[in-house]
This record gives sequence, C-alpha cells and structure tokens, in this order.
Amino acid sequence: MNPDRNISPSTWMLINSSAIIIVLSCLYIVSALAMEENILWIPLLITDAGVFLLSYFIYRYILEKFIYDKIKLIYKSIHKLKSKKSFKEMELTLDKDIISKVNEEVSEWAQDRRQEIEELKKLEAYRREFLGNVSHELKTPLFNIQGYILTLLDGGLDDPTINKEYLQRSGKNIERMISIVEDLEVISRFETGELKLDILNFDIVALSNDVRELLEVKAKRKHIQLNISREFDKPLYVKADKERIRQVLINLLDNSIKYGRENGSTKVDFFDMDENLLIEVSDNGLGVDAKDIPRLFERFFRVDKSRSREQGGSGLGLSIVKHIIEAHQQTINVRSSIGVGTTFAFTLQKADSVH
Ligand SMILES: Nc1ncnc2c1ncn2[C@@H]1O[C@H](COP(=O)(O)OP(=O)(O)OP(=O)(O)O)[C@@H](O)[C@H]1O
Ligand SMILES: [Mg+2]
Repeated sequence: MNPDRNISPSTWMLINSSAIIIVLSCLYIVSALAMEENILWIPLLITDAGVFLLSYFIYRYILEKFIYDKIKLIYKSIHKLKSKKSFKEMELTLDKDIISKVNEEVSEWAQDRRQEIEELKKLEAYRREFLGNVSHELKTPLFNIQGYILTLLDGGLDDPTINKEYLQRSGKNIERMISIVEDLEVISRFETGELKLDILNFDIVALSNDVRELLEVKAKRKHIQLNISREFDKPLYVKADKERIRQVLINLLDNSIKYGRENGSTKVDFFDMDENLLIEVSDNGLGVDAKDIPRLFERFFRVDKSRSREQGGSGLGLSIVKHIIEAHQQTINVRSSIGVGTTFAFTLQKADSVH
C-alpha cells in the first residue's frame, strides 16, 4: 500500500488504523451474532482502542523507517549536489507533509539545474559554431595555396605568365591565415586577462588624424571622405593605451569604408561627458538591420559573409574593438539603420594634459 500523494502520512495512518479496528469489530460482531452470544461492547471498545494505538504506532514506525531510509537518502544526495544554494535545513518528521516538502525542494533544485543546462547548451552551441568558423576561415586560404602549389608542380613553374603570380597569391593567402590566427590570439589573451594595457595620456584628435591619413588612399578609391571634427582645433587628451586605441580607430574607420557607399562620408566626432570623452565614428553607408545589431561584436559575425570576405574581412575586427574598450573599463555601442548609416560610439577617460 502506498500513501496517496495528496494525503499526508498522518492522515494515511489514521485511515489505515481505523480500517483495521472496523474490520476486527465487524468480525467480532458477526461471529458473536452467529454463535448467539452477547456482544461485550465495553471490552470491544477497549480492545479497539488498544489495536488502534498499536497499529498507529507500528505504521508510524514503518513509515518513518521508509522515509528516513529512502527519501532522506534522495534528499541528502540532492543536498550534496546542490552546490550554489544549499537546501534550507528541514526537519524530516511525520508531523509535516514530508513528501510534498521534498517534492518542493527537488522541483526548485531541478529548475536551477534546467537553467544551468540551458546555459551550457548555449555555450556548447557557441563553441561548436566557433570551431566551425575557425576551421572554415583557415580552410579557404589553405585550399587556395594547395591549388596554386599543385598547378606550379604540374608544370606551371616553367610558365612565366603564372609562376610569379601564383607564388604571390599563395603569399597573400598565408598572410590572411596569419592575420586570423593573430586576431584570435589577441582575443584569447584579452579574455584570459593576459594582455596588459600600456596606459598613457595622449591627444585623441591627433591620433584620429593619423588614422585618417593611413586610410585616406583606401577611402579615395571609393570616393569616401574621411572627416575629423573641426570643432576641436585644440588637442583633446585621454588616458588610454594609445596603440590599442589606434587599432580601434583603424577598425572602425576601415569598416566605414568597406561597408560605406561610393561618394559617401565618414565623420569622427568628440563629445565632452564630464569625466569621459565620447568618440563617435559615423558613416552614411549600408547600415545594419536591427536584428543583426546585437551580434555585431561576436567573433566571426558578418552581416554579408561573401561581401565581407571579398573585402578581406574575417569578422574579428569588432570583437577585438569591444575587448579593447572593455579592458579600459569603458563602453562601446552602435546605432544603425539600413540605407541611412552606422554610428559606433565609445568612451575614454579624459586627461588634463600629456603628463
Ligand atoms: N560601418 C559599418 N556599416 C555596415 N556594416 C558594418 C559596419 N561595421 C561593421 N559592419 C558589419 O559588421 C560585421 C563585423 O565587422 P568586423 O569589423 O568585426 O568584421 P570584418 O570587417 O568583416 O572583418 P575584419 O574586421 O576582421 O577584417 C561586418 O562584416 C559587417 O557586416
Ligand atoms: Mg572590420
């Protein structure tokens, strides 16, 4: 006999003990009537009371043993497994509805585990996608190099119209692989906290102008104008890692050219925000769909893979940018509309001077 799930153990014992005395009393009354003897009501009631108490305590003992042996074992195992939040200390006595209490605790525990499993599943999916991306990105240049080498070995080496070109193309593919591996290394070193920043005070307007000059030729090919806000003709000092911030600006300006439109323009603006300086890089290019915006800073994410690859992109640039800004304990965000343009805005700590 198993106690019903909705009946507490105490009620279940009362019902069972009452059932026993009812059955015994009925048997006694029927046999007394059959033998035409008088029914001795008082001794019957006393015996019933004794049997009731005896059966109640026997049931109680058996149930207690069952609960302590079985349920408490389960309870303790879960208690041990529950690492973050410990079980509330609970007394396992028969006065309480133990089974529903344990059930409550187990459900709560299962809910926590379910959330953990969901998070692990997400991480696992992310890891699988990441590995797939890495191998895909490296496989493409590897197969290209293999193709060039096989053609050269097949006689191409003696053909002056292709031999030099195929070697140059192989060299470019190797450069691409190196750049992917280096970018991944930078990201992983930021993630493990291995990369230390070299903080100093410098003029961000001058650095932006350096980056503009560096990318001017590339921008001109697409007739894109790169403008650094002229409102600030005097220097604006920030306290940051100059070379890392140069990397950030190169990436953002380079993206604005790659994903900008012919005859478009890009502007770098500065806004004073009390303790910090807000730097905005805005373009009037392709823009990004709202659904893709939250994924822009993910490793290998590209809105249009083929277009980005054509431009030599692997989708690691913005991930590095975010890591650099966050390593400075600062923030970066993006606003964008398809066909209107994109603005990346990040903050840096202000400094009074170069010293
Ligand atoms: N200014 C922008 N306008 C429109 N889309 C952009 C802009 N900047 C980035 N994106 C989108 O975000 C994606 C990720 O950019 P990210 O800089 O990380 O990679 P990438 O430029 O493709 O390659 P990499 O920077 O590694 O050479 C791009 O592929 C592009 O689809
Ligand atoms: Mg980029």
